[in-house]
Amino acid sequence: MIKVLIKNGTVVDPSQGIVDKIDLLIEGDRIKRLDYEIFEPEAQVIDASGLIVAPGFVDLHVHFRDPGQTYKEDILSGSKCAVAGGFTTVVAMPNTNPPIDSPHVARYVSAQGKCWGLCDVLPAGTITVGRKGEELSDFYALKEAGCVCFTDDGSPVQRTDIMQKALIFSSELGVPIMNHCEDDLLSQGSVTEGYLSALTGLKSRYPEAEETMIARDCVLAYRTGGHLHVQHLTTGFGVELIRFFKEKGVKVTCEVNPYHLLLDEGTMLSEGPLARVNPPLRKKEDVLALREALREGVIDCVATDHAPHAPYEKGLIDSSLPGMIGLQTALPIMLKLVEEEVISLVRMVDLMSCAPAKIIGLEVGTLKEGSPADVVIFDPKKEWVLNEETNFSKSKNTPLWGKPLKGKVIYTLKGGRIVYKENS
Ligand code: DOR
Ligand code: ZN
Repeated sequence: MIKVLIKNGTVVDPSQGIVDKIDLLIEGDRIKRLDYEIFEPEAQVIDASGLIVAPGFVDLHVHFRDPGQTYKEDILSGSKCAVAGGFTTVVAMPNTNPPIDSPHVARYVSAQGKCWGLCDVLPAGTITVGRKGEELSDFYALKEAGCVCFTDDGSPVQRTDIMQKALIFSSELGVPIMNHCEDDLLSQGSVTEGYLSALTGLKSRYPEAEETMIARDCVLAYRTGGHLHVQHLTTGFGVELIRFFKEKGVKVTCEVNPYHLLLDEGTMLSEGPLARVNPPLRKKEDVLALREALREGVIDCVATDHAPHAPYEKGLIDSSLPGMIGLQTALPIMLKLVEEEVISLVRMVDLMSCAPAKIIGLEVGTLKEGSPADVVIFDPKKEWVLNEETNFSKSKNTPLWGKPLKGKVIYTLKGGRIVYKENS
């Protein structure tokens, strides 16, 4: 069996409460041993001096556009991007063409992921047939075909009765229902309601579009016992609502997109369509509330919402498609929050590895002996720039393109194999 020995790094594994300079031995596809000064003459050695060794990151929210829009991204380019960002498991959103509303499309997505073999690409099934919001998908068949959750992401579920039924199935199947919470009637535009919409005259998206739907869905989760996962939370009052329902014992979890922790609505003025995303960048006070919620634990995990688009689809703010690529920028953004002492490094790893794995019930997100050898090794201080040379996505739509970033993945290992090595 192939052995890999990671020496001299600082192992950070929140699942075991470990932050220590220890070695890590991998045998085959599993973690074999964590200890001081491991000696194993047969092993391939990775010198991790000055580097952090952590469980591979897990992203509950990526758009790989495959099948259907592979000019923006496909499962190979998306997987390359994921491992370059330190992610060893990703959940692929079902707003593809055709959507992941049938078992054969779900099987296609996971088989493609396995075929390239860089990271696990786990399909999310749609909540409704064709993502039309009217008729529930066949959850049993989709789960059987490998779907790990259900969502109509990009098209919030507007009908209360549909969401109620979905959550009833969730409690029976033990699979989370994820919702992009935004009421359509209150989110017709491209920027957050307030100063910016008044200044520019652009149509807006109200924070209450998000908050009313969060409240509705939490009530439904309370009544049905289903597991609700709120996608890309953006407002301070949304945090308060989730806190309230968590305290009531409701099975609700939520994620935040790193960009919503870094940027506010003002970025639209300098970056225009590159800063357009749904839900939109909000106000400074919302960014601060999200940061506080990260620290406190009201926010469960970070998810990138990696949303590639072609340049011509990002033309003018009002007509541009929403979303930003995010798999390679997530780590530098999160490390900035560590540097600013918003969260600790341990909490960061928890938010990016352990917590998301737990939400969908995976055995990854840990370096416990015997678990899958999914490992990220990163340099928290290394400075770099996301540009033509370093980008693995087919798209370039991020306001951080060409800007200095700090914190870089040096190695990613999936099931004990090196699937990414910096500059190779
Ligand atoms: O900004 C977004 N882009 N938000 C979504 O929910 C969907 C996504 C996309 O598919 O591009
Ligand atoms: Zn999304």
